[in-house]
Amino acid sequence: MGDSSTLEFLKTRRSVLARNMTVPGPSAEVLQDLLGAATRVPDHGKLAPWRLVVLQEAARAELGKIAADALAAKAEAPSVDAYASAAAQFLRAPCVIAVLACPKPHPKIPRGEMILSAGAVCMTLLTAAQSAGFAAQWLTGDVAYERAVLTALGGTSGDEIAGFIYIGTAKEAPSERARPSLEEVVQFGLRP
Ligand SMILES: Cc1cc2nc3c(=O)[nH]c(=O)nc-3n(C[C@H](O)[C@H](O)[C@H](O)COP(=O)(O)O)c2cc1C
Repeated sequence: MGDSSTLEFLKTRRSVLARNMTVPGPSAEVLQDLLGAATRVPDHGKLAPWRLVVLQEAARAELGKIAADALAAKAEAPSVDAYASAAAQFLRAPCVIAVLACPKPHPKIPRGEMILSAGAVCMTLLTAAQSAGFAAQWLTGDVAYERAVLTALGGTSGDEIAGFIYIGTAKEAPSERARPSLEEVVQFGLRP
């Protein structure tokens, strides 16, 4: 059965920059709905090759400190400002959900497909949150590639951080941003 309202929503959906977010985030009940929707994604072989870590309250500052320490340890000239901004990054939204891609060895299903499924979790979570009226943004940033951050989130060797989905309330409505024209990115049929 068709649902034209979903298509209409998708046609104008926009992310809100994390720095333009404020409270409130989703209630515990709504969060369960968002997580349920996000884990209902295409997944070749039903491997569930992903994990979601919900960061709220103090956990955001705890992970921020781990991230800031890791980045400072490898910076050539660590700066106080860079440390403070890295440490505070997860505080921009009341709710941040880390999505980990956790590929598993499989005789037939390529690792890339498992990473794509984790991307589907990110996009579905983003879309679910936005459709419920929340501001949301999918971010990685340097921290997503820090081993200490992955470990703090429970990731192990071979896992990757697919993204941090920030969820909150928009301080102001986002303006439209440029999109590629369909002519640039879509081809009907094969080239002659
Ligand atoms: C995997 C991934 C990582 C991203 N990381 C960042 C980032 O670190 N910083 C950033 O400014 N935008 C990042 N973006 C882009 C934003 O999520 C997004 O493109 C922008 O907010 C516009 O989103 P919209 O098309 O939903 O409106 C990332 C996007 C993806 C898919």
